[in-house]
Amino acid sequence: MIKRLLVTGAGGGLGRYVRERLKGPAEILRLSDVADLSPAGPGEEVMRCDLADRTAVDELVRDCDMILHLGAISVEANFDALLQANFLGTYNLYEAARKAGVRRILFASSNHVIGFHPVEERLDDTAARRPDSLYGVSKCFGEDLARLYFDKFGLETACLRIGSCFDEPKDRRMLSTWLSPGDFISLITKLIAAPAIGHLVLYGVSANRDAWWSNAHADFLGWQPQDTSEPYRETIERREEEPAAGSDYQGGRFATMGILGER
Ligand SMILES: NC(=O)c1ccc[n+]([C@@H]2O[C@H](COP(=O)([O-])OP(=O)(O)OC[C@H]3O[C@@H](n4cnc5c(N)ncnc54)[C@H](O)[C@@H]3O)[C@@H](O)[C@H]2O)c1
Repeated sequence: MIKRLLVTGAGGGLGRYVRERLKGPAEILRLSDVADLSPAGPGEEVMRCDLADRTAVDELVRDCDMILHLGAISVEANFDALLQANFLGTYNLYEAARKAGVRRILFASSNHVIGFHPVEERLDDTAARRPDSLYGVSKCFGEDLARLYFDKFGLETACLRIGSCFDEPKDRRMLSTWLSPGDFISLITKLIAAPAIGHLVLYGVSANRDAWWSNAHADFLGWQPQDTSEPYRETIERREEEPAAGSDYQGGRFATMGILGER
């Protein structure tokens, strides 16, 4: 068990799963978001922080052993917004972590770093990155920053290329990309407990029949996803008869969108 785990973006969808379900691996959860959070319960600390504010991030990270970095703009957006939250925010976090001697960061990357690969391809951690959006580019930046801070300072990161983590898969694409909340929490638990992970790229996906991604390189973690999207297939296929926009690409509609706020 570690002493204190910082969770950024704790007010979002995944942060809510963590707050409700992550029991055991950390004595104290330090929960943070730029938005308001409900008051701290037992074993919790709450600190409001904008990740783009360097001084506030230094303060936030102090005394933390590990960080689950969820805080970000989590969809395609204009560059100026991504620049603050995702690029500058992630840089501020890594700098603060280096200065505070944090051991490990679990970075919420995204499938949108590889979203321009066709759906026929099967990918592992060696796949070339093909971001499908500015959002995807911001996550590529985070993965590269993580690599730099491991090679230069030995700061470990698991780059979690999360598929689609919701209560249920919502469309045909998610039959391939769904990560159940339970599998997300068990993955986080394994990553906190592992003695050493180095710099690791992982796909956050449940045991779906038609998954596009392999984590065979990370067998040493002993993570076995327990859920699959199959029970939802019939309902989804009945509801969604036509292929959706972007269904040729792993990133789905992100691959066919324009640049938001283009100049
Ligand atoms: N949910 C998924 O299926 C999925 C898939 C791929 C990647 N991810 C990544 O996982 C993380 C969490 O996803 P989510 O679904 O919970 O997203 P979300 O949008 O629900 O939550 C993100 C949280 O980050 C906070 N945030 C935004 N800008 C911030 C800033 N400048 N400073 C501090 N906090 C800030 C928001 O207030 C929000 O509460 C994100 O980084 C997202 O990109 C999620």
